[in-house]
Amino acid sequence: MNNSEPTMAGLKISATSLKKWKGDTLVVFAFQEESPKLLGLGKEAFALAATARSDGFKARERETFILRPVGKLPAERVLLIGLGKKTGYNLETLRRSVSKVLTLAENLGLTSISLRAPMIKRGMEEVQALTEGLFLAAYKFDRHQAPADEAPKPVSEVMLIVDDLNSDVKKGIERGEFFSAATTLARDLINEPPSRMNPERLAAEALKVNQSPISVKVYEGKDLEKMGMGGIIGVGAGGAVPPRLVELIYKPSKARKIVALVGKGITFDSGGLSLKPAQSMETMKDDMSGAAAVLGVFSVLPKLRPNVEVRGYLAIAENMPGGRAQKPGDVLKAFNGKTIEVLNTDAEGRLVLADALSYAASKKPDVIIDIATLTGAAVVALGHLVAGVMGNSPETIRALLSAGKDSGEQLWELPLVKEYKQDLKSKIADFKNIGGRRGEAGTIIGGLFLQEFAGEGPWVHLDIAGPSWSDSDQPYCPTGGTGFPVRTLLRYLENLA
Ligand code: BES
Ligand code: ZN
Ligand code: ZN
Repeated sequence: MNNSEPTMAGLKISATSLKKWKGDTLVVFAFQEESPKLLGLGKEAFALAATARSDGFKARERETFILRPVGKLPAERVLLIGLGKKTGYNLETLRRSVSKVLTLAENLGLTSISLRAPMIKRGMEEVQALTEGLFLAAYKFDRHQAPADEAPKPVSEVMLIVDDLNSDVKKGIERGEFFSAATTLARDLINEPPSRMNPERLAAEALKVNQSPISVKVYEGKDLEKMGMGGIIGVGAGGAVPPRLVELIYKPSKARKIVALVGKGITFDSGGLSLKPAQSMETMKDDMSGAAAVLGVFSVLPKLRPNVEVRGYLAIAENMPGGRAQKPGDVLKAFNGKTIEVLNTDAEGRLVLADALSYAASKKPDVIIDIATLTGAAVVALGHLVAGVMGNSPETIRALLSAGKDSGEQLWELPLVKEYKQDLKSKIADFKNIGGRRGEAGTIIGGLFLQEFAGEGPWVHLDIAGPSWSDSDQPYCPTGGTGFPVRTLLRYLENLA
């Protein structure tokens, strides 16, 4: 693979066959029930595994153990990583466990390691999962920081050792690279401080993916007025940097379906005049995670080349208080002509999405998926690991849930209870932007509101307020923007084609 070996976050991943391998440190996986056995090492490792077991290594998920082998193994040192119980094993087990390798190796002062790829069930998928786990665990957002004095040197090279260096292995590494690069882009956009990643900058980032077969258009100022984008204009009115709507189109030569992805792109959510308390504002630079995820997806479409036309719509604004800011009581008219009484300026995501969704729907795609950090209620209901899914298309919801299982991103469906729609009735406009009952069913109310603007065709809403951001380090994601649900969307698009 020579020159095409992917590098990201200073890490290079390549593969070689067991026969050709020669090195000093080898990483090997083991299952909890299989005692003594090290995956993919055969008889040479039998005694080794037995030693580790007798010294207390149980092979629990992400458990590690270091050994100095004697005998036939051509390795000076072996790092064992547990995969937990065989019955619970899936691709996510691999991503989570392999992510342990990097810190373990760093603490030992190793910058280059070899890893026996287990290939337990689905060859290509397993290599992809290992690659994702490694690249995403290596991710750092340190561009605004001086290098720490005593930080260990990060691992710069991982060699995957496989039985046979076939096309599945090469494809797995390549796909792992694309999926990780797309996720990394989303994380970088989210993590960048909000005065830098303002509406102008986010639109500029979108223009960077403007290369065949993708075209990108940015609407602002007079364009938005002419189009009748009252929601985006209203929310952006208090910001120093004017709002934008970005339209991206990926058009492959043969497309079986047209999918529209609509992303909430609030570059900072102060709440507007309905100001948030200080603590709730701390992470509100992440309120553009939906738009960041859509851009992450677009950034790798020219490489993955799924046979689906993908249209992206980013509704971008900063939600700020100020003399020109919209006021509670104001009435806006969205792109589809429906009017909205703004009773709480902090329920701004649905206002910008009202425009973007109805614009997307006016172009008649086969399905619309919107991705938004929409409600704090979703964090209360589902926590920081799970996104809420709502919509009128059981088929699309099923496909997304299944793609989420494979990517290790968790989604859970919530019902769009139609009786709750009356909570959105306004006395003076077609709708008001908040429900009536002290926040009851806040996530569902948000979904019901969006449904009014999504047209009659298939539509699904992902409320990613929880999983878009992590306030602690996760196995393969440091604190900050996560890039959720980029990898699920990529799988979904590929499965459609
Ligand atoms: N961006 C927030 C939602 C959010 C909260 C995202 C916490 C991530 C973490 C959204 O614009 C918002 O403020 N929603 C309000 C809606 C309410 C006023 C109806 C909320 O959830 O409180
Ligand atoms: Zn808000
Ligand atoms: Zn918001």
